[in-house]
Amino acid sequence: MTDPFRVGGRVYVVTGAATGIGEAIARELVAAGAAVALVDIAPKLRGLAAELGDQASAHVVDIVERDAARAVVEHVLATRGRIDGLVNSAGAVVNGTALTTTDDDWERAMAVNVTGTLRFVRAVLPPMLDRGRGSVINLGSVVGVRAREDGIGYITAKAAVLGLTRSVALDFGRCGVRCNSVSPGAVDTPMLRAYEQRNPGSLQRLADTNYLGRVGTGTEIAHLCRFLLSDASSYLNGTDIVIDGGALAAFEPPRSPTAPR
Ligand SMILES: NC(=O)c1ccc[n+]([C@@H]2O[C@H](COP(=O)([O-])OP(=O)(O)OC[C@H]3O[C@@H](n4cnc5c(N)ncnc54)[C@H](O)[C@@H]3O)[C@@H](O)[C@H]2O)c1
Repeated sequence: MTDPFRVGGRVYVVTGAATGIGEAIARELVAAGAAVALVDIAPKLRGLAAELGDQASAHVVDIVERDAARAVVEHVLATRGRIDGLVNSAGAVVNGTALTTTDDDWERAMAVNVTGTLRFVRAVLPPMLDRGRGSVINLGSVVGVRAREDGIGYITAKAAVLGLTRSVALDFGRCGVRCNSVSPGAVDTPMLRAYEQRNPGSLQRLADTNYLGRVGTGTEIAHLCRFLLSDASSYLNGTDIVIDGGALAAFEPPRSPTAPR
């Protein structure tokens, strides 16, 4: 019997793969025997692809560039012959309120988090529709469900990612292509470290106010994504899965950082 959790032998595209959650997903998939096209604007992506070997290819592009996604997908189809899944993990935080966010920052937040995500979805859809199967995952965020201070551009963009995900799920689910989003809470990556630099003490505060008493790891997000890419999640479509240690379940932070008994 075929293992429904199997991803080995399949072909995936992962954006934002040079660091953080995207890197963890790429490592997880390659370790499980999948071929992965790594996409990132950061040239260090090439070093990761070299480390991962023949199962990985590096595509150093800006996902916002109009033709970037199409070129990546053409290359993957020419070299691997198919695309089974896409993970849109590339994302960019911009800071500021409605009064302080610059027009450039607002447009960058929308371009990277929303338009770049749409472009990769659009590019993988035709080959997935031809085969009548595919799984797309978009990285949302708990701030797309709730909000925090000083981040209107990022928060609005992440809320849009959840709407984009639901639209794709409804438009293409009956053709065999599923689309879901994953909304992490605080995960220890370069993005969270940058947030800590802007808001000193936030990493500790996020850990102390979490109901598992810590921030998450990229590998924990990668395990969920591996499940969503596999046939084991075949009835999941248009869903947002929050993975945050219980943060959104709570009305108030824990009364004590230690367990009650
Ligand atoms: N880390 C967290 O706590 C957290 C929480 C909620 C949601 N997320 C989301 O998860 C995803 C991954 O986050 P992360 O923490 O790994 O972030 P990260 O900043 O550590 O990594 C993001 C990667 O995306 C790449 N990237 C950014 N703009 C790009 C562009 N225009 N073209 C190509 N690549 C580009 C970066 O070079 C980087 O390698 C993001 O969408 C983020 O918004 C992260």
